[in-house]
Amino acid sequence: MSARIDQKRNFLFFLNEIYPVHVDDCLTGALVSPSSWEAVAQRVESSRQKDVFARSIDKVHLYVHVPFCERLCSFCHCSRVLLRQRSDIDAYIKDLARQMTILSPAYQGMDAGLIQFGGGTPSILDERQLSAILDGVDKSFPSRNRQIQFEANPSSWSASKLALLSSRGLYRLSIGVQTLDEKILKYVSRPQTRKKVLGCLRLAQKAGIPQVNVDLMAGLPGQTVEGFIHDLKDVISEGMDFINIQPYTSLSWQLLCGPGETIPAFFNRRDAMMKMAKEVLAQAGFTRKGFWGIYSRQEEVDDPQEEVYTHLQAALAAFGPFARGLFPGAVFYRAGTVRPGAVNTQVESCAQDLDYTMSHYAVLALINGLDEQAFLKRFRVSIDRHCGEGLRYLQESGLVAFSKGIWKFSGKWEIRRIREYFALSRALFGKGLLSRLRERFVNGYDPRHDYSSGNSLLKAYADSTLMVVYYRMGC
Ligand SMILES: C[S@@+](CC[C@H](N)C(=O)[O-])C[C@H]1O[C@@H](n2cnc3c(N)ncnc32)[C@H](O)[C@@H]1O
Ligand code: SF4
Repeated sequence: MSARIDQKRNFLFFLNEIYPVHVDDCLTGALVSPSSWEAVAQRVESSRQKDVFARSIDKVHLYVHVPFCERLCSFCHCSRVLLRQRSDIDAYIKDLARQMTILSPAYQGMDAGLIQFGGGTPSILDERQLSAILDGVDKSFPSRNRQIQFEANPSSWSASKLALLSSRGLYRLSIGVQTLDEKILKYVSRPQTRKKVLGCLRLAQKAGIPQVNVDLMAGLPGQTVEGFIHDLKDVISEGMDFINIQPYTSLSWQLLCGPGETIPAFFNRRDAMMKMAKEVLAQAGFTRKGFWGIYSRQEEVDDPQEEVYTHLQAALAAFGPFARGLFPGAVFYRAGTVRPGAVNTQVESCAQDLDYTMSHYAVLALINGLDEQAFLKRFRVSIDRHCGEGLRYLQESGLVAFSKGIWKFSGKWEIRRIREYFALSRALFGKGLLSRLRERFVNGYDPRHDYSSGNSLLKAYADSTLMVVYYRMGC
């Protein structure tokens, strides 16, 4: 074996060669395929019985993925499928109830006060179907003060769905606007009129929902900086308190660029939009909040995702095809896909050991400051013992600084998206990282082979500039 090959990096180069898109997926550990909902429940239950860290988590957020869409927008990278017939939704709801019945006993005694609906298109459900799901949730995960967060597509949204959800605890409504420009909407196969969208925003405002969010996309094909800023100002003037600017991304360069546009021109156009949006929003009193970078005028914004993935203070029990659930320190799982006519909710899962969980926590905490004492209190292990070597490596590279018991990113680069966190955490800390990954790719990896040649993305990673690449891609 050549002594010059750095095995940790070499293995990442290997990974990227065979599994280029979902590097972060394979880094979650060895997903046992297929697993089962019963196995996930068992893992949660036994961790809560045996493990002090798992027992310290007393809250579970619920997530229901509604995979169906009436039309597929050409830009979309969400986990979704075209709805063939409405009876498919009823089969899906029945399966949701089954999943909840299996999982819920394992989470007994935990506070399950929040349910998020995401998609796909949750608003595709009619009133009867929405009620059926919520009744099932109440039965499996009872809570006296349920808060609902819901994603609505204007085309399938209505006053009666709003009224129903409000009566069941609608707290946050997220409306998919993307753009108000009907020409662009038509180009991206999204049949939606400006009038209908503005009607939805006004309806939500009038209903007095505590949090109304609007998703706007920056960089759609054919979208100009002026047009985008015009949309943004229109949305602000409607009195929205939350605005989520989504930088348009696509794994296909052809889909990314507008007609006749080059790739650098696309990035320049999109970057100009993001920059101007920041200025316009700041002038209107908005600041960027939380992990996902949503802009808000509200002072305090609680972010359930952050509670689960950053602070590891809550579990996430997710249901439906494409759902991903996490019980920190116990198990990560993901449910299957949808094939025409069949909802496949087979589950793949991997157990999360404490070592892995500590690494995950450490990297995520670096953004606001990783406190040595807080770490010790939480895990009963010192940071130095767990990942001192990795932190010192980062410090020598100038990426983190240490002062008064706190490690923190030095601000040399901006970490904005979950993949960046994941990539960093897996690469620099996890002690069991390589064995985990080898376990998954046990038959393919040859440690004597140098996988780094010609692999530009992971080369960038090795040079610590992957963060910039990812940022440029907006992933
Ligand atoms: C589940 S989707 C949308 C919810 C709903 N189906 C709708 O269309 O209004 C959530 C958000 O992801 C964003 N999104 C989808 N595809 C994207 C892409 N390629 N790049 C950036 N953001 C994207 C959109 O802003 C969208 O509102
Ligand atoms: S943007 Fe919404 S409606 Fe369009 S394809 Fe994606 S999930 Fe479906």
